[in-house]
Order: sequence, then C-alpha cells, then structure tokens
Amino acid sequence: MKTTQKKKAKKNGFKRFWKLGREEFNTQFFDITEGGDLLVKEGNHTYNVHSLLKKYGSPLEVVFPFILESRVRNLIDIFDAYIKLYGYKGKFFYHYAMKVNQNKEFVLPVVSEGGHFDVASVNELWLVKRMLEQNRFSPKIRVTCNGPKTEAYIALIEELRAKGLTIIPIIEDHNELERFKNFKGETGIRLNMNVRVQSHWDKRFNRYGFREDEILKLGKIRNLSVLHYHISSQIEKVEGLIVPLKRALYIYEKLREKNPNLDTIDMGGGAGIPYEKKGKFYTGKSAINRIVRTAKTYCEKSGIKHPNLIVEWGRFVAAPAQLTLYKIISEKTVSEEGKRKWYIIDGSFMNDLLDTWALKQKWHVTPVNNMKTRKLQRVWFAGSSCDSDDKYTAGGGDISMPRLEDLENGDSQFVAFYDTGAYQDPLASHHCLLSSPAKIICQDGEIKVARKRETSEEVGKQFGW
Ligand SMILES: Cc1ncc(COP(=O)(O)O)c(C=O)c1O
Repeated sequence: MKTTQKKKAKKNGFKRFWKLGREEFNTQFFDITEGGDLLVKEGNHTYNVHSLLKKYGSPLEVVFPFILESRVRNLIDIFDAYIKLYGYKGKFFYHYAMKVNQNKEFVLPVVSEGGHFDVASVNELWLVKRMLEQNRFSPKIRVTCNGPKTEAYIALIEELRAKGLTIIPIIEDHNELERFKNFKGETGIRLNMNVRVQSHWDKRFNRYGFREDEILKLGKIRNLSVLHYHISSQIEKVEGLIVPLKRALYIYEKLREKNPNLDTIDMGGGAGIPYEKKGKFYTGKSAINRIVRTAKTYCEKSGIKHPNLIVEWGRFVAAPAQLTLYKIISEKTVSEEGKRKWYIIDGSFMNDLLDTWALKQKWHVTPVNNMKTRKLQRVWFAGSSCDSDDKYTAGGGDISMPRLEDLENGDSQFVAFYDTGAYQDPLASHHCLLSSPAKIICQDGEIKVARKRETSEEVGKQFGW
C-alpha cells in the first residue's frame, strides 16, 4: 500500500469502526471531525452534532429533512428507471404512510419530492385538508385512506373528494363495502393475504381486509381501481416483498374479470432498513428491480394489463432522517466482575424510543464526542424512568462507548441513536412525567427549533395540573 493510501485507511479507521459514511447502512451523510465529534454533511453544509448539543441541550432529537428528501427522490427515480428498462406499462406512485411520522418536518419534504399519501385516520386526513387549504401541494396529489372508517372519517373523505382531490377509500370489510356503495370517486379494497413473511410483525391472525376466498366472491365493486395489501413491516428478505406480490397479481387478475377498471396494485409498507448495520441487508434498488421484473413477467405470461404500482414504504424513507441524542449522566457496574457498565441516559427508551421496549428494536449507537478514543468500555444503557424495562442492551450484546473516567474535567459524554425517524415520535409518552426531548431541524445549513424543551409546568398541564 502507498503511504497516502495507508494514511487514508488509518484516518478512516474510526469512521469504519463506527460504521459511518456507508451507503449500504444509510450512514453516507455521517462523518467524524478531526477532534472526534460526530459530523453530518448536507452537500457543503456541515452540522457538528456535539456543538448542537452544547447549544440546544439534551436529550435532543435532530431531524434532517434532506435525508428524507433524498430517500423519496431516489425511491421514485429507481422505480421509474426500472419501469423504463423493462418496458413496463404501468405507472409508479409513492404514497407516504403518514402514521410513520406525522410531524410537519417529515410530511412536507415528501410533498416537495413528488410523494402522495396514505392516511390511517380522520386526523391524518385532516392534515391533508390543512395542506390543501394552505396551498401546499398540487391538487393532483393522491391519497389512499386506510384504517377503519368512522363517520367523521367518511365525512372528510367525501368533503375532500368533492373539492376535487383523488381520495381513495380502501375498503376494509363488508360494512365499509355497503357504506361506499354510492361513493363517486375511485375505491380500493384491502386483501388479507394468506402468505407469511419473515419480519418484525407477522401475526397469525390478521384482522385487516378480506380473506382471499371472500374477496373473490365479492363480484362487481363500485369504481374499484386499487387492490391493496400490507403484509408486514421491516421485512427481512427481498423474497418477503416478492412472494406476496405474486399472490396479489393472481388476485388482481381474477378480480379484473368482474372489475375491468381495476388498474393498480398497492403493495403497502414493509421495506426494511439495516438498523443493526451488520452483514448484508437488501437495498431499495435490488428490491425495486425484483418488484418491477416480477410484475412484468407475471403480466406477460398471463396476458393481463400491467397494473400501476404503489408502495407505502414508511420506515424505509423516514427512519434514517432522525437522530436521538442523550447525555450520559452516571454509570454503574452491571455485575460484580464490573466488566460491563450501565450508562444512565438523561431520557427514556420507554418514552422517546418506545420500540426498544415494545419490539425489542435494535439500534445503531455511537458516541457523539470522543469518537477517536481507543479506550472503550462495554456498556448497556438505562433510561431515567423508574421502570426496570427502561433499558437498551442490544439484545444482551455488547455496546462500546468511551470510558467516562477519561473525560476531561467538566466534559460530558453524549450518545447518538440512529434511524429514529420512524414510529418513535408518534408513539412517545411521558412515563414518570419525564419531558420529551427537544427537537431541532437542520436544513440548508440552518437550524430551527421544532419542539422546545418541555418545562415541568407544561408536562403537568397535559395531565390536568
Ligand atoms: C397500511 C399500511 N401501509 C403502510 C405502512 C407502513 O409500513 P412500513 O413503515 O413498514 O413501510 C403501514 C404500517 O403499519 C400500514 O399499516
């Protein structure tokens, strides 16, 4: 190896160790400064995360809308490119599943990159109404409406349709089928497929949609244009996206016999992201290639119209766009041998990163400062609530962090949890009445405060005090 190459490899050693700067792990925007601080790069703008913590305090959530934008843009571009490459005749529509993160700083970048929406409740649909009133998007935007339809939800669907929006209720059951019998716009129907995949969530009994035998008996459905299914979330292998698609293509073919206007398959959510940054995880590109190729091959073989394709991938676009940061406020040895320590954070996993507790979610974790130290400590993290479940142990594995005894006088050690943009904020809570992390948005080199640090008074107020 030449000396310059050797120098470079040495210089990049810490970056490699903390798995930063790698596209396959979605950390291509992350780097380390000379002084060992975590750095985020947006083109030529840079954000020193340690400096952000010094300025805005901890715990802190940092949102990077440019990451979300680039993920939405890439997703649409890659689908369009494979559609062209394979001569596929259907169109592609990306619908952002709003439930994944309804905060404005997540929703608006989706609109700016040409995304559409999937909503799950009357209140999520109200956000669409709000954006419409504020002229935030082109009226060509399409909205699929999932979830059980209350009367208020149906009334808002009708109201927005009358305003000229393409708003497609996804019919879940016989009751809704009856309720939308006279609906004037396009409708969709949800299929509860008899297929299992390897993933976070694969319940034996799925309560959503019509079973295959039921759906095939429904006959003609008014204005049916979309066949929808949502098989799971954080699907582990590309095959988990392809097997259900093949089944859906078969049902689509059968349903078209009585519903010739059916022209779209909505594959729902499910694409996973490499939270653990270990080994190989499929890329969006490889999954999309297989999806378009599978649809094309099936339709050519059976001589049916190529359906338009929708995906509602939520965590795939949103998760990498946020970091959650904590300060280590104290340490304790885990056991008598003292080899592993508890690092106590100034926030709560149960409150701020609820999937840690609910789904045993694993996260990528790095220090925010002292990233170039070689003196590391094996740790587990404990939250600040009084709950013994409020902890993160990486499934009993080891997490490396700088040793606290090496900190210079007055310095604090901070820690970053990656990929926290999906599902954590909407599920957040106030166990032990801890305050939520403050939240800032970094975009175009500027920083905005999206949520101030909650005072005791503000938290008390939410509980009627
Ligand atoms: C109907 C529907 N679409 C899309 C999604 C988004 O799923 P994911 O974040 O796994 O892509 C969900 C998640 O629960 C869902 O229920």
